[in-house]
Order: sequence, then structure tokens, then C-alpha cells
Amino acid sequence: MILGLETSCDDTCAAVVSEEGQVASNVIASQGLLHARYGGVVPEIASRHHLELVDAVTADALERAGVRLDDIDTVAVTRGPGLIGALLVGVSSAKALAAARGLPLVPVDHLHGHVVASTLGDHPVEPPYLCLVASGGHTFLARVDEPARYEVLGQTLDDAAGEAFDKGARLLGLGYPGGPAIDRLAREGDPEAFDFPRSAPGELDFSFSGLKTALLYAIRDLGDAAESRAADLAASYQRAIVDALVSRTRAALRREGAERLAIGGGVAANSELREAVGRLDVPVWVPPVELCTDNAAMIAGAARFLEPLPYPEYLDLDATARRL
Ligand code: KG4
Ligand code: ZN
Repeated sequence: MILGLETSCDDTCAAVVSEEGQVASNVIASQGLLHARYGGVVPEIASRHHLELVDAVTADALERAGVRLDDIDTVAVTRGPGLIGALLVGVSSAKALAAARGLPLVPVDHLHGHVVASTLGDHPVEPPYLCLVASGGHTFLARVDEPARYEVLGQTLDDAAGEAFDKGARLLGLGYPGGPAIDRLAREGDPEAFDFPRSAPGELDFSFSGLKTALLYAIRDLGDAAESRAADLAASYQRAIVDALVSRTRAALRREGAERLAIGGGVAANSELREAVGRLDVPVWVPPVELCTDNAAMIAGAARFLEPLPYPEYLDLDATARRL
């Protein structure tokens, strides 16, 4: 059994996953409401709450899995990228848990976790496959030939897709986090009411900063009418993001001759994107929402494919804010 910890942003997460990829527990303590009043994640507040929550969340993950620490064979933890103070809480806890029992430890790249989320559960995706990862901090297309690695084929040149959702929601006065709020409001609107740009900076790259500006101008031009058109604005804005994600994904599938697609990251929770990838002409793995947004099961899941560091080699392991 692998115990995974994930604290790269504002969710304190712990999970227990078997070597075969069955998720025995997946606990997520969201700090979302704490940060909502600031309109985004405040790094220092996130670290402090991780510190308060991490022991309880770990205990809960073990209890829900019906195991004790003595049953754990390996500890896995997100090493980066993310908020450095937040990451350090997970890395330090994982080191302490592992070292106290002389267990091996696996440092995991957060993005690798998103890439292999679909390898968990009863119907795992088998490499080779293509993966679209769209989250609050990252948006990229990757090729996975073996589950220990991924090759980035294209990525966003500016904002991440989740960032576009969050900034759009803020412009529409919908609060934070914006993705779920736009997703909900868009259901009542006309996705063709406004013609927002789909920028194409490269064959497999993304750009979302122009879209955000287009929304800003549309709201400004509407003036007082903007409020009554909020659902149409949200639906059209969401359509533009989903179109951009799906068109690049289609291009990547064609170019790589890939026969399977998986999606991951918080934006993969979006209902329109989930429907749209279902219309592509390859089998698609869409993880349950709790494996799309940040979670520790995907971190423990990725650890299955990596070489563990034996005790005490990991004692000087450091977190890293940047991409690994
Ligand atoms: O993967 P994630 O939980 O954290 C990062 O690693 O960034 O992704 C969070 C992002 C946020 O930007 C949030 O607005 C977006 O995922 N998100 C959604 C939905 N649920 C979460 N975006 C669109 N539609 C959703 N239903
Ligand atoms: Zn993430």
C-alpha cells in the first residue's frame, strides 16, 4: 500500500492506493472558502492551514482505507511545482512519516500525477496514450509511452485554462474558484451569443490571455446590460476555452497517430469539456471529478511507476516551486 500526500496549492490531500492502482481512500480538505474572500489563493494562509490539517487528513485517509501506518509500504509526496511553503508542509510530513518507520519515499511531480490519474481504478488507460492536462496553473498536451514519463507536445504560452476560468469568473462577478461557477451559469446561456477569439499561437500550443481581454471589453461595451447577459457571456466564454482545448487535442491525436486519450487537471471537471472530448473519434478516459482536481490518489498512483528513495536517502529532499 502507498500513502500519498499532496499540498501543492490550497487543498490538503492524503490517499491510500494499492500497487495495482485501486484507490482505497482519497481525502481532500479544501481550503477554498478560506481563500474565496481574497479572490484567490493566499500562499501564506495556505501553508498555515496545511500545517493544521495535514495530520488529521492523513489519519482520516488511513482510517477510511481500513489500514494502519504499519500496513503502509511506501510514502509518496508532491515535490513540486506549486507554492513553496505549501509544498514544504507535505514534503516534511512525508519525510517524517517515512523516516520514523524506515520506509522508502517517492517524490512525485504534481503534473505527472495529473497525467496518470486515468491509470487508477478498474478501467485504467494503457500506454501509449495522449493526455490533455488543464488545471489552474498548467495547460499542456503530453504523450505517454510508458507511465513513468511524459513528453510535453504543446502548452499554454500565457494563462492556464483554469486561470482563464477564474479570471473570467472574477470579471463576471462570480467569485472564486471560477471554473465551477462559470460551468453552472453557462448551462443557462447561449454559447453562440458572443464570438470570443480562439487564438492559435502554434499547432499544439494554447493562449488564453487574449480571450480574457475580449471578455473584459464585451462586459465594458454592454455596460448596464452586462448583468442580464451574464449567462450568455459565461456560456460563450466557456465555449471558446473548450473549443481551444479540443481543437489542439484533435490536432495532437492526428499528428501523433494516438489511439487513446486521457484528460486530467481541475478543468477536466468541466461538464462541457467532458462532453466535447466524448465526441472525438478515439476512446477517452475521463477520471471522476475527485481525481481531476488536486488530490493525493494521483500522486500515490504516479509513485507506482517510479523508483523509491530508500531510507535515509531522502532526508535532505527539498520541495521545488518550479516545474521539475
Ligand atoms: O488541478 P487543480 O485542482 O489545481 C491546480 O493544480 O491548478 O485545478 C484548479 C482549476 C481552477 O482554476 C478551477 O477554476 C478549475 O480547475 N476548475 C474548473 C472546474 N472545476 C475546477 N474549470 C472549469 N469547470 C469546472 N467545472
Ligand atoms: Zn493540479
